[in-house]
Amino acid sequence: MYKIIQITDPHLSRPGQNLWSLNPFERLETAFKDISTFHSDAEACIISGDLTDSASPEALRWLKDSLAGFPIPTHLMIGNHDVRSVFFDVFQTYPKDENGFLQYAFELAGDRFLCLDTKKDEPVSAGQYCGKRMSWLENELSKTHQDVYLFMHHPPFEVGVPYMDRIKLDEAEAFGRLVSNYKNVRHIFFGHVHRPVFLSWQGITCSACPGINHQIPLVAEAVSTKCSVEPPMYAVIEIGHGNIRVNQDAFLDRYPTAR
Ligand SMILES: [Fe+2]
Repeated sequence: MYKIIQITDPHLSRPGQNLWSLNPFERLETAFKDISTFHSDAEACIISGDLTDSASPEALRWLKDSLAGFPIPTHLMIGNHDVRSVFFDVFQTYPKDENGFLQYAFELAGDRFLCLDTKKDEPVSAGQYCGKRMSWLENELSKTHQDVYLFMHHPPFEVGVPYMDRIKLDEAEAFGRLVSNYKNVRHIFFGHVHRPVFLSWQGITCSACPGINHQIPLVAEAVSTKCSVEPPMYAVIEIGHGNIRVNQDAFLDRYPTAR
């Protein structure tokens, strides 16, 4: 089995500024340290979008500097809070598809990983997977018989949280029809929902982990604000011989018990 890590939705604000009274920079730095300490054997780390809260180039530069000291090869994705052009201004040599979308493939131990770009080019929270991006995915899926693992910011399905279900991927049905043609798609990792979620969709297992900064309450009425403070987590994913195991670790809320 080999190991990879998922981090999602750090929502880096402008350096020096808190977001919802939490410090996303400190939290992400703590996650990086925790992963470096306990999971230095991970082959890769994927940060599945909403790198920033308001597309701050300073925040992306901070991330770039921070990643220089993080020993695990890290793959970045964008979400609805990011702006693609700002991302490419800071990460100028990052891979992109032939239409300029931030989507790319990489391989580990004979398995293929596809990181998709679901950013909608309007200032909205929902996701988009247009015909051009769909063609790229179809081409990628049609040229391999390897096991494929998808990473995408917006889920193409509902997770049972009405606020999030209104802003899922716009083209959920078309996306589902495309993916259903490829039985080698083994798992979908997503972000966006700021919650620990596990489900099966079209026979494919799917999972999301909480964000690094704030969360979205499962029951809206459970808190008086739209967002909530709940333990942030990263996912430790182990894959081997077609099997997958996903654990989530609440790195900021882990203490020894009283004796
Ligand atoms: Fe987010």
